[in-house]
This record gives sequence, C-alpha cells and structure tokens, in this order.
Amino acid sequence: MRTITSPDEMRRIVKEVRARGESVGLVPTMGFFHRGHISLMRAAGEENDYVVVSLFVNPTQFGPREDFKNYPRDLFRDSEMAAEAGADCIFHPRVEDMYPQPFLTYVNVEEITGTLCGASRPGHFRGVATVVAKLFNIIPADRAYFGLKDAQQVLVIRKMVEDLDFDIDIVACPTVRESDGLAMSSRNMYLEPEERRAATVLYRSLRLAEDLVSRGERDPGEVIAAMRALIEEEPLVEPEYVEAVDFRLLKPVDGLEGEVLIALAARVGKARLIDNILLKLDINRDKEPKH
Ligand SMILES: Nc1ncnc2c1ncn2[C@@H]1O[C@H](COP(=O)(O)OP(=O)(O)OP(=O)(O)O)[C@@H](O)[C@H]1O
Ligand SMILES: [Mg+2]
Repeated sequence: MRTITSPDEMRRIVKEVRARGESVGLVPTMGFFHRGHISLMRAAGEENDYVVVSLFVNPTQFGPREDFKNYPRDLFRDSEMAAEAGADCIFHPRVEDMYPQPFLTYVNVEEITGTLCGASRPGHFRGVATVVAKLFNIIPADRAYFGLKDAQQVLVIRKMVEDLDFDIDIVACPTVRESDGLAMSSRNMYLEPEERRAATVLYRSLRLAEDLVSRGERDPGEVIAAMRALIEEEPLVEPEYVEAVDFRLLKPVDGLEGEVLIALAARVGKARLIDNILLKLDINRDKEPKH
C-alpha cells in the first residue's frame, strides 16, 4: 500500500489506474480508524479494482471552539489497518496543499445544512462539501463510500453531486456499532469509563423509538418525548437535539410515514456524539395486511 501526500501525484496515479481500465473506489476519512471505517474500505474493495482511502483532518469543517487541534491522529496504526482492509493507497495531504492561501472558494449546499448538526455547527457542512468536492476532483473515483452514522452528511454529499454534476456514485453504508450498541466513532476515545457506559442510552433511545413505532405509534412528538425521557435518566448525557425528519430535506415530520430519520446529537463529557436510525414506514402498514 502506498501513502501519497501530494495532490498532483495522487491525481497522476488515479489517471494511470483509470487508463488501465480499472475502477476506483474512494473512502474519505479523518483517520483514527475503527470498524466503521474498515467496513467502508471493505465495501469499496468489493466493488472496485483500486481503493483510495483519504485521511485528512479537515480544518474547515471544525468550528473555532471545536477539537481540530486535539482530534486523535495515528497515521502508523491507520496505515496498518487500511492495508489489512485491502486499501491500495492512502492519500494524506498537508493542510497547506489542500488550502492555498488565500483560499476563497467554498461549496455551500443550502437548506439541508441548517438543521440537525448544521444548526449547532455553523459552517460545518460548508467545510465538508468543500473538502469532498476537492477530493472528488483530485481522485475522480467511480464510487465514494460514506457511513450512515453521518446520515445528514450522506444527504448533503448526494445533493452536491446531483446539483454540481459530479460523475460519481455515492454509496451509503450501514452504521457499525460496539457490542452494546454504541455507534463507533473516533470521538468515543474522549469518553471516561463512566461516560462510555452512559453513552449507550443513545442507541437504547433509538431502539425505544423503533419499538414504539413497531407497536403502531405514528405521532413523532410521542416518540421524541419517550426518547428524551429515557436519555434524561443518564445525567452524564446532555442531548443537543432529538428529531424525526424526512430523509430528503430533513424537515420535521408531522406523522411517521415514508422514510423517516430519527436522529440525535448529545454531549457526553468532552465528546459530541451523534446517532440515528432510518425507518422505512409503509404508509398502509397499520391497515389490513395484503395476502
Ligand atoms: N460507526 C460507523 N459506521 C459506519 N461508518 C462510519 C462510522 N463512523 C464513521 N463512519 C464513516 O466513516 C467516514 C469517515 O468518518 P470520520 O473519519 O469522521 O470518522 P468518525 O468516527 O465519524 O469520527 P468522528 O466521530 O470524530 O467524526 C464517514 O463516511 C463516516 O460516516
Ligand atoms: Mg465523523
């Protein structure tokens, strides 16, 4: 496996790979790998001849008071894990090569970036869309792989690809969890043992929502209230938002039908954690079953 830092060299390598007629899969990451990242790399390996994993802690997606400086980094361990997962190349550019000064051009996906995580992290999705657009230009892949743990990010990238005519398929992969249900995240390493235990309430609240809906509840207000009540039982967990939104424009839904995303964010100690489940509700589900 090769590690490339120069954007120009990366572009040249991908050009050669494509000239050989091979397909390219791209997995954009900020590193400090866990099984979530590995699942994206393996999915990319199954569907493409050549897999590039980008590893770039992108400063423009962090707010001024966020953890850019302290974000966990371990290139050596990450390289071993990516090689083991079948990656052909790690693209690890320097900040100054990705952001020539003065940097004056940003990609802004409107509307769907102002809700959920966008509400408390102004500019976050502008940074994400901009860096992903740059990666797509440096590495013109056939497919790019993103995790559904970051469901809003998947929608934002899909909209950018549609609106700006990028010739790349966005593949959304399921959320990988710890055995107790906590969604894997590089930021879980910030948790103290007590906080780590308390954090399981997030997935338990999503399971509670799923359970209520499976028993016929269709009022999003009831579901959210029940989730909040459960989360409140853990004083170490401070919810930021708990919402039921449609899985397209991320607007709050009046009733639970169609594709509904139940999404949440919470502070647990130094970590800000997110999680969600996507419900696909048959509009006729609570009527007579068809045989
Ligand atoms: N638990 C997971 N399951 C599946 N995909 C995941 C998971 N966690 C992250 N990913 C995906 O991996 C890609 C890179 O994400 P990133 O490097 O930011 O990792 P992260 O664990 O989300 O880190 P952090 O929580 O600090 O943002 C994204 O597409 C993200 O959705
Ligand atoms: Mg992330």
